[in-house]
Amino acid sequence: MNVLLLGPPGAGKGTQAKRLEEAHDLVQLSTGDMLRAAVTSGSEIGKQAQVIIDRGELVSDGTMIAMIRERIQNPDCMKGFILDGFPRTTAQAVALDLMLSEMDRRLDHVIEIKLDDGVVVERITGRFSCANCGTGYHAKFKKPKRKGICDACGGSEFSRRKDDNAETVTSRLEAYHRQTAPLLPYYQASGALSGVNGMADIDEVTHQIESVLEAA
Ligand code: AP5
Ligand code: MG
Repeated sequence: MNVLLLGPPGAGKGTQAKRLEEAHDLVQLSTGDMLRAAVTSGSEIGKQAQVIIDRGELVSDGTMIAMIRERIQNPDCMKGFILDGFPRTTAQAVALDLMLSEMDRRLDHVIEIKLDDGVVVERITGRFSCANCGTGYHAKFKKPKRKGICDACGGSEFSRRKDDNAETVTSRLEAYHRQTAPLLPYYQASGALSGVNGMADIDEVTHQIESVLEAA
């Protein structure tokens, strides 16, 4: 099963992708995570991407398409994948369709996680993650069970993304509406698009996504 999660910054794409990965034995393909790994490694792509990410703009289609093309051909993706953060432009969507058809594969579900613009800043500015294992949290909506201790690994160091500030979020949201939202009619036309209410709590969103997956 191959799934694409679409939605604005803070919609819960990463949160839900992690749950789907576990529940259905799929591979999460997060281009944001891949770019952050490239930044940390200090590679040339990482250096160029850092400036763009910090402005809340989109990295070039050529870079992103090449990155996904290489990753999606990895044997671990044969069991099925969840795309999180790609495609983000029409050019990326067209390239993905071509890539998948060359591999004789397709997207089984495209799920839009719908979120009102008004809550995006709160979602993003409250986010933090375990510096050791990467488990994601939120200061209000998903606190660690024991204050200051990661539920998953017991770590006590946490970090925040550099682009998680109110100013950059505004640009990211603009980029979403201008460049990524046009993919909704694109996937609507393909018949694969469903929507879930991203304003609901995390468990309820998971439940709605599972219903979509079961329905088909
Ligand atoms: P990326 O990392 O993809 O960021 P994004 O799209 O802005 O999305 P986020 O990761 O911020 O949000 P999310 O939907 O994953 O939410 P999460 O689950 O964490 O991209 C970063 C940058 O990389 C881009 O700006 C761009 O520069 C570049 N880039 C990446 N891909 C690209 C591409 N294809 N082309 C070009 N450039 C690209 O949840 C957020 C918080 O809310 C968490 O704290 C979570 O605990 C909490 N939460 C989640 N769900 C709920 C809920 N239902 N209720 C309450 N709280 C919730
Ligand atoms: Mg994410």
